[in-house]
Amino acid sequence: MARGCILLLPLAIVAFNLAKADVPAIFIFGDSTVDVGTNNNLEKCSARADMLYNGIDYPFSKPTGRFSNGQNTADFIARYLGDFIGSPPPFLSLLKCMSTFRSNILHGVNFASGGSGILHDTGKKRFVSLSLSLSLYLPLDLFFARFLPYYQACTRQKKVVPLGQQIRQFANVSANIKAVLGLTEADRLISNSIFIISAGSNDIFDNPPTSISPPVLITELQSAYAIHLENLHKLGAKKFGIISVPPIGCCPFVRANYSATGDCVDDLNAIARAFYDSTDALLRQFSSDFKEVKYSLGNTYLMTMNLIDNPVASGFKNVKTACCGNGTFNGQSPCRVGANLCSNRNDYLFWDMFHPTQAASELAALTLVYAEGPEFVKPMNFSQLAGADV
Ligand SMILES: *[C@@H]1O[C@H](CO)[C@@H](O)[C@H](O)[C@H]1NC(C)=O
Ligand SMILES: *[C@@H]1O[C@H](CO)[C@@H](O)[C@H](O)[C@H]1NC(C)=O
Ligand SMILES: *[C@@H]1O[C@H](CO)[C@@H](O)[C@H](O)[C@H]1NC(C)=O
Ligand SMILES: *[C@@H]1O[C@H](CO)[C@@H](O)[C@H](O)[C@H]1NC(C)=O
Repeated sequence: MARGCILLLPLAIVAFNLAKADVPAIFIFGDSTVDVGTNNNLEKCSARADMLYNGIDYPFSKPTGRFSNGQNTADFIARYLGDFIGSPPPFLSLLKCMSTFRSNILHGVNFASGGSGILHDTGKKRFVSLSLSLSLYLPLDLFFARFLPYYQACTRQKKVVPLGQQIRQFANVSANIKAVLGLTEADRLISNSIFIISAGSNDIFDNPPTSISPPVLITELQSAYAIHLENLHKLGAKKFGIISVPPIGCCPFVRANYSATGDCVDDLNAIARAFYDSTDALLRQFSSDFKEVKYSLGNTYLMTMNLIDNPVASGFKNVKTACCGNGTFNGQSPCRVGANLCSNRNDYLFWDMFHPTQAASELAALTLVYAEGPEFVKPMNFSQLAGADV
């Protein structure tokens, strides 16, 4: 596709205005759950979601790099938090056009990269041995099929963008915002912006209990996470919307390949729960070390388990099988043209073997932004975070 040098307008003001928080800008970091096309820009990297059936419900049925039938959680959060019609564009796409770069970054940037993690090496290891309840081993190339439809790519090329590098990219953006607005205005913009981070699942997938004991992994992840948060804080970030790890033991891929019964694999879910608890502790510490820091922590584990346990109440008819894919639960091969594709996509929790449908992403974002009470998001929901004084 030819990429002209144009002023991107994904952030155009929408005509109607609901009760929105009107955050000035949103910066998004993390993995494929919030990637809106970063990996499309990685050279020689064929591992990405820029081919159908991904995007089949996106305007013009356009595959954009989102691992979804349509929009993803980043898009919906942006829509609910401000006058945005979706996520801000990927940093690597904006960089392609330096003449418009500076005007395109002022309402936010998305740095998220599918396959990446909190740890530098996540998504880059050549082989991983995974031994869950069933003691199976598999090469990373196969394993990586979970995020990367054509798995012979980004991983070997060491191309995914880890969280640390995403933050260095934000340093570039921050410097450019300062150059445009001046220090005072730039600081004000960045302080009032929301920093969304959705990461951790890939670190757990890539460091299974056989290679590292879960408590050691969790400790390692949290010390790395702490450094990332402090680095963002040094760059002026004050409002953090942190999205924890979903029940990865329930995704169609794991149900299909690692569960004799087709049930969720609790060894993996237990690590996701431990990750949430340690992130909770980390954020309490972080916000007490830096008083001006405000945060929301979203418990996507509980949110998703709630849907899986109460499919009827939640409006989903199928919470086990992916809409798009092949094999058991459509969880054994990637979503691509020629795979099985469901027609009633709003009835499915899972789009492909790892990722939620647009409908599920919308529900997740609604909960993160508007939920009351601490069960799903605490100590405040994202809309309160947006309105908080810093
Ligand atoms: C999952 O299981 C299927 C069927 O046994 C197999 O073909 C496929 O390679 C497995 N996938 C992975 C990533 O292990
Ligand atoms: C941001 O990155 C681009 C591309 O690497 C580079 O041209 C530019 O100089 C960088 N800007 C800053 C402020 O670091
Ligand atoms: C997926 O399964 C369907 C049958 O259900 C088959 O027609 C199709 O060829 C398979 N596609 C792939 C990519 O394996
Ligand atoms: C967010 O949380 C607060 C406190 O629980 C609640 O009053 C409010 O209704 C929630 N939703 C919004 C949009 O603020």
